[in-house]
Amino acid sequence: MKTDIYFYTGTGNSYWVARTLANELGDAETHPMFWNEEEKVASRGDAAGLIFPVHIWGLPRRVIAFANALAKDPTKYWFAVAVNAGQVAATLMQLKKLMNANGLSLKAGFEIPMASNYIPWGGPGPEDEIRRKINDAREKIKTISAVVVRRETRPVEKGPLWQNVLLSGLLYKLSFRHIPAMDKKFWVDERCNGCGICEIICPCRNIEMNHEKPSWLHGCEQCLACIQWCPREAIQYGKKTPGYERYHHPEIKLSDLTSLAKEKQRGRSE
Ligand SMILES: Cc1cc2nc3c(=O)[nH]c(=O)nc-3n(C[C@H](O)[C@H](O)[C@H](O)COP(=O)(O)O)c2cc1C
Repeated sequence: MKTDIYFYTGTGNSYWVARTLANELGDAETHPMFWNEEEKVASRGDAAGLIFPVHIWGLPRRVIAFANALAKDPTKYWFAVAVNAGQVAATLMQLKKLMNANGLSLKAGFEIPMASNYIPWGGPGPEDEIRRKINDAREKIKTISAVVVRRETRPVEKGPLWQNVLLSGLLYKLSFRHIPAMDKKFWVDERCNGCGICEIICPCRNIEMNHEKPSWLHGCEQCLACIQWCPREAIQYGKKTPGYERYHHPEIKLSDLTSLAKEKQRGRSE
């Protein structure tokens, strides 16, 4: 009855969901979405899940690449959790379609709203609201676990029609190809001491330290881990972020992210 859970995260919300669900399920293993690009990813579990943040009302680039790297396995029970900040829109429908095209069948797809990490639009909101969302998420994870244990098939969850058409159908498609170069707006202020944490935790190896300052290499996935985890809050994006509060999931630590970075190294050398 083993379950493999593959996750992608910027600020820990999806990682926390993956870990909490794995504990709830019992016989489950979590794996960050790092893989050897020359090989297919084959889960040995009886069930497998994908857990990731919603980005611009759709799937992040990395999740698309990971879904494309999965080995065909029409008999496996696949599920997904799209972690978001209130607008899942048509993200899970997009994933279902993509998996279908790859010979995989998504049997259930859930959305979990958590605090927003999209700092260009502001901070994560009041602390009691963040806590409330975490508590609601714990309840939803219990439901998800029960569905997965029963191997139940359910329609994937989605937003209202206007979101699916306008936000996922139009804005996501218009912005998708611009995402890698959106890192042009990152800059560092005088507090940057060249510690290199941003380079270590960037999941897509898009940061390089030059003369003890980070440079972004225009292969960005906009997970915002660099700006949100910078220990000195020295990384900025555009003009407004000096005034905005940073966010990461309160139960996920920087050391968790740096441990994931070791798996990234392993993914490269495998
Ligand atoms: C580039 C970007 C785009 C986002 N777009 C959406 C969105 O379309 N809908 C939404 O509800 N949340 C959106 N968010 C918020 C995240 O999905 C949300 O905060 C999520 O819980 C973060 O998960 P993580 O901590 O695992 O990275 C976006 C965040 C980022 C960084």
